Amino acid sequence: MDKYDKVMDLAKRRGFFSPSCEIYGGVAGFLDFGPMGTLLKRNIEKKWRETFIHRHHGLVYEIETPVVMPSKVFEASGHVDHFTDLIVECLSCHKRFRADHLIVDQLGEVQGIEGKTPRELDEIIKEKNLRCPECKGSLGQVTTFNLLFKTYIGPYAENVAYMRPEAAQGMFVNFKNIYNTMRERLPIGLAQIGKVLRNEISPRQGPIRLREFTIMEIEFFFDPKSPDCDLLNEVANKKIRLLTESMVSSGAPEPIEVTVREAVKDKIILSEWQAYFMALSTDFISDLGVPKENQMFIAKLENERAHYSAQTFDQLVKLERWGWVEVSGHAYRTDYDLSRHQSFSGQDLMVFKKFDEPLKEKVLLARPKVDIITSKCGRETGKVLSTIKAADVLYLKDLLSKGTTSINGVEVRPEFVEFVEEERMITGRRFVPHVAEPSFGADRLVYVSMEYAYRERDGRVVLALPKGIAPIQVSVFPLVNKDGLREKSLEVYKLIKSEGYLADFDDTGSIGRRYARSDEIGTPLAVTIDHKTMEDGTVTLRDRDTWDQVRVPISNLVDYLRAHFPKTCNPS
Ligand code: GLY
Repeated sequence: MDKYDKVMDLAKRRGFFSPSCEIYGGVAGFLDFGPMGTLLKRNIEKKWRETFIHRHHGLVYEIETPVVMPSKVFEASGHVDHFTDLIVECLSCHKRFRADHLIVDQLGEVQGIEGKTPRELDEIIKEKNLRCPECKGSLGQVTTFNLLFKTYIGPYAENVAYMRPEAAQGMFVNFKNIYNTMRERLPIGLAQIGKVLRNEISPRQGPIRLREFTIMEIEFFFDPKSPDCDLLNEVANKKIRLLTESMVSSGAPEPIEVTVREAVKDKIILSEWQAYFMALSTDFISDLGVPKENQMFIAKLENERAHYSAQTFDQLVKLERWGWVEVSGHAYRTDYDLSRHQSFSGQDLMVFKKFDEPLKEKVLLARPKVDIITSKCGRETGKVLSTIKAADVLYLKDLLSKGTTSINGVEVRPEFVEFVEEERMITGRRFVPHVAEPSFGADRLVYVSMEYAYRERDGRVVLALPKGIAPIQVSVFPLVNKDGLREKSLEVYKLIKSEGYLADFDDTGSIGRRYARSDEIGTPLAVTIDHKTMEDGTVTLRDRDTWDQVRVPISNLVDYLRAHFPKTCNPS
């Protein structure tokens, strides 16, 4: 059994997680979290909230938006057109496979496989005579498969909607509203933790690749003309390990280690805010128990990046069976999403920034020729006027210089618009903010933290989770269930709970078995009540990792717990 099998076995045996709907044979890509797994996942989410949201209160705000969103949202975001993987079908057994995975499974690593076109994958399949892994039949043409889960809103087949594949779009469509509510300040971050769905072609890595999972995501909006991160100094000397785009292209095997300051100064990371979040992410993943040397960032090449990104770094951690696995993505999304939503919704999603002093400036204006538009467009006149008003002037001028154009289905002719330059007193600038996005998958992190915590000692399993994320903080045991020990233990148990710690009371089986159970679910501290307790009011505290025991008076127990656990574990 390798570590993956051992962790999966422990996960099932101790109520962390198991395949979803197991009584019906399980469904690949879906996971059910049991009592311990749910606690662990919530603690990881809590740590993420502390790291990325709470410490930035006033700058980053958490919101909550629906999983189901109308198709228009994902047409605008580009997911309807671009959120695809490449698929190939066996012509004999008709099983379908993710084409790049099938190739890598049969040929080993292929440089740049992620960004290859259907035709390039077809060529590899033909040239290497690759066959169906199930029945050895020949394979058909590689085609695209959209990963969005489709549904309908209400009993109307025309009301197409999709389950969100990222929480990000809920933040983009709410941006302007929240910007107005929160006193029109930039920069501002919106954060969300919630379920997302992706209809993966054939997920095979258990908790690592899921069709439904919890995402933890920030869309951080800033002015592209003032892109400086005023928190950068706090992390400037921190070191991060990364493979740059040119290192990836040249096949460099080892990452470089640079300070965040160097990464920004040398333009390795384009957005300062992105660099800041990458530094926090390194700390966050370390707090889940992954040493820094087992983490790195890897730049995505242009043909591997999502359609919205000008630069992306994936944060990877090393797993025993799966090698380097992505735990977060850091994308510089520029103004792509807001601009697209602005044109698809026809709403003004720009912000206005006032100058300190008004400036005299020549501005180019697009003046609609209302008479001509009315005579040519009749009832459509209003639509044409608002389309001209919403369009970026330079962009519109460029479009119309080539002739009649269509903007979101509205026809605009060159004779509809007159472009004039005017000198004006400008009091400020209107612009579409840019966005840096850190995005994490929570479920995968449950597995990652368990693999890094997994130990064996004297033939027993110990889950040495960091104290800040362990599902249960304290176990309470009466040594035996007689002589008043059980009643005394219940008193101690109540005391610990009343202080806000999550405690388990266990009076079944031998004390050795109870310690073993407590170690397997990663409880950092066990308190045992024995006959000496009844004599002198002390209890035994046993440490999960060292198995060392100390005696502490019950009157000092709460102080001991406060010192033993990180502050964030105290009353939640
Ligand atoms: N929002 C990040 C992603 O879709 O992966």
